[in-house]
Amino acid sequence: MTSKKLYLVNGPNLNLLGKREPDTYGKSRLEDVVRLVQNTAEEKGYDVIHFQSNHEGDLVDCIQKAGEEAEGIILNPAAYTHTSVAIRDAISAIAPPVIEVHISNVHRRESFRHQSFTAPVCDGQVVGFGVDGYRLATLGLIERIEEGRNKNE
Ligand code: DQA
Repeated sequence: MTSKKLYLVNGPNLNLLGKREPDTYGKSRLEDVVRLVQNTAEEKGYDVIHFQSNHEGDLVDCIQKAGEEAEGIILNPAAYTHTSVAIRDAISAIAPPVIEVHISNVHRRESFRHQSFTAPVCDGQVVGFGVDGYRLATLGLIERIEEGRNKNE
C-alpha cells in the first residue's frame, strides 16, 4: 500500500524560527513546527515530507516534485510570498491543493507584506495564528483532500 503524502514547505529564514524576531514569530523552533504537522497529519493517516530552503529555485523544484508525489502542500513562502512570480507559477503548474501559511498577521505589518503573489493561486490561507496556523492548515488541507476523494468516488 502506498502511503498518502503531504509536503510541508518553508521558505527563507524560517530555519531560524525560535531565534528570529521572537516577538513576531514566537519561540517555537522549526523542528517543533515539523513535529506539530507530522502529529496532526499522522492522526489522519498521512505522512509528511518537510523541506526548508533559503533559495527560490530550490523551493520551485520542491513544489514541482510535490506536484508529482503529494496529495497536498502546506506552504509558507516567507519573504518570497511578496516577490516571487516563479513560486506562484510553480503552484499554478501543479494539481494538488496548496494552503499558504503565515505565522504573523501580515496584514497588521508593513504594507509590502499585504500583497501575496502566491495566495491567489492557493486553495486557502491561514494567517496570524502563530505556529498553530500550521496545524490548522494541515487539518483544512486534509479535509479538502478527503472531500475531493469522496467526490471522485
Ligand atoms: C512570514 C511573513 C513574511 O512577510 C516574512 O517575510 C516571513 C514570515 C510569516 O510566516 O509570518 O519570513 O511568512
